[in-house]
Amino acid sequence: MKQYLLPLPNGKTEFTGGRVALPQALCLDRADFAPEALDVFAERAGVTLTDEGAPLLRLYRNEKFPAEGYRLRVTEAKGIEVEAATEQGLGWALVTLLSLIDGGSAPCCDIEDQPMYAYRGILLDCVRHFFPVETVKAFIDAISMAKLNMLHWMLTNDQGWRIELKSFPELHENNAPEFYTQDEIREVIAYASARGVEIIPEVDLPGHTTAVLSVYPELGCAGKKVRLGDAPGIYSVILCPGKESVFELLLPLLEEVAGLFPSPLLHLGGDEAPKSEWEACPHCQRRMAEEGLDSEEELQGWFTARLIEHLRTLGKRPICWNESLLSDYLQQQAPELVAQYWAEMHTEGPTRRFWEAGGDVIFSDYLSVYLDQPHGSNPMKTVYAYGPRMPYFNPPAPLPALGMEACVWTEYVATPEKLATMAFPRAYALAEAAWTAPARKDYADFRRRLDAFLARFPGMGFTPPALADPQGLDRYRERLAFVKMQATAPRPENNGGAGGAIDGKFLLRWVKFFLG
Ligand code: ACM
Ligand code: ZN
Repeated sequence: MKQYLLPLPNGKTEFTGGRVALPQALCLDRADFAPEALDVFAERAGVTLTDEGAPLLRLYRNEKFPAEGYRLRVTEAKGIEVEAATEQGLGWALVTLLSLIDGGSAPCCDIEDQPMYAYRGILLDCVRHFFPVETVKAFIDAISMAKLNMLHWMLTNDQGWRIELKSFPELHENNAPEFYTQDEIREVIAYASARGVEIIPEVDLPGHTTAVLSVYPELGCAGKKVRLGDAPGIYSVILCPGKESVFELLLPLLEEVAGLFPSPLLHLGGDEAPKSEWEACPHCQRRMAEEGLDSEEELQGWFTARLIEHLRTLGKRPICWNESLLSDYLQQQAPELVAQYWAEMHTEGPTRRFWEAGGDVIFSDYLSVYLDQPHGSNPMKTVYAYGPRMPYFNPPAPLPALGMEACVWTEYVATPEKLATMAFPRAYALAEAAWTAPARKDYADFRRRLDAFLARFPGMGFTPPALADPQGLDRYRERLAFVKMQATAPRPENNGGAGGAIDGKFLLRWVKFFLG
């Protein structure tokens, strides 16, 4: 029975013998739980729910359970009983129940479960390649089957602006028709919410903003005309924090985005923002002098802090990629900041200080859980073994973390089929790594359960790739093919370089990673 459970429950998991048959019309006592999670369960299980008759499925609201925690009991005497404090807890109990149903009946069991980390996310980049609403929904459905609860939706970047805005329609119209209307966004949010998944939008600032600058070139330092990006990489022309007009755009823009997404979190990006333009810009240099900022990194921190001050009035908590921590000013001004760690580069010290001081961090090391990397580079075993840590820092005990996130960037992912084979089944390895305590984890056991799980719930409906755990030569072939593809891809036309000094240790880690 246990073979169908993924992630492995993080508490008592007993199978007590016997089974309970589920009739097509399943009678339930829903207590005061909202209908969404129940409707999703009924659809997935192919049953109809009714309040008429003697209940076989009983729900109990029990505030003693942690958020997302639940108890599921199946007994021949009392049928199916679920206890939870929240709708999410109920939703995960029903996912567990669904996984256990086989041949129209559920095994008698007693399962108490709760996640290790509150944040268990996947990033889906819908900019580098645009995916239709139906694909995004299929993706959400697939991740929710493994109790992943956050979808970090990358919606703005150099290659496009994917959010319909009423306040600045030029932005989404610039890449028509590849954007999501506000109705579509609301539809996706509701779909995700019914499945226990929260959607966090990312508006990447101040770098990766070619899509904005292609509409408003005057918001760059030199006011140079740029075209919408058509290549992967880092673009050197970015927003100018010296100009007030940048804030006249961004403050109302963020307000509209904040109003569209109910999540209390909003991702402000902050990664890969080259400083060459700022160094030569009189507006930027004047701003630094006026604000007493001694470096361009501090200027980025000042810029981000000003946006965060605005988010505060909108009731939103910011997330930033770890490069933003290079600014002491930002660390002081925005204690509520959530940092997302992806690469150390020259940011190892500041990220570590933030982490040690108890700052909330989401861990997404690109050499472990970036799922745009081929299976040969970040194989499932590596994803499964991942936990909150930084490569040059091994504290005696893991420090607390908000959670973990695997990232599916899509520069080289053009179709839903390719998306499915990059994301799955590795996303399921991350799901267990983020839900189940390390002491309970066992990779061989996970692989056995995964096979059974995928036979019933193949992520996004596509056959998972045979190379999920490539060995030996296959690994190298996959790595080589990926590196070759990256090396021969077109470069951004306004790319002034790699975006700053690359730390020697960072380079060394890349080389070690490549050599395996
Ligand atoms: C990132 O990969 N630039 C966050
Ligand atoms: Zn400037």
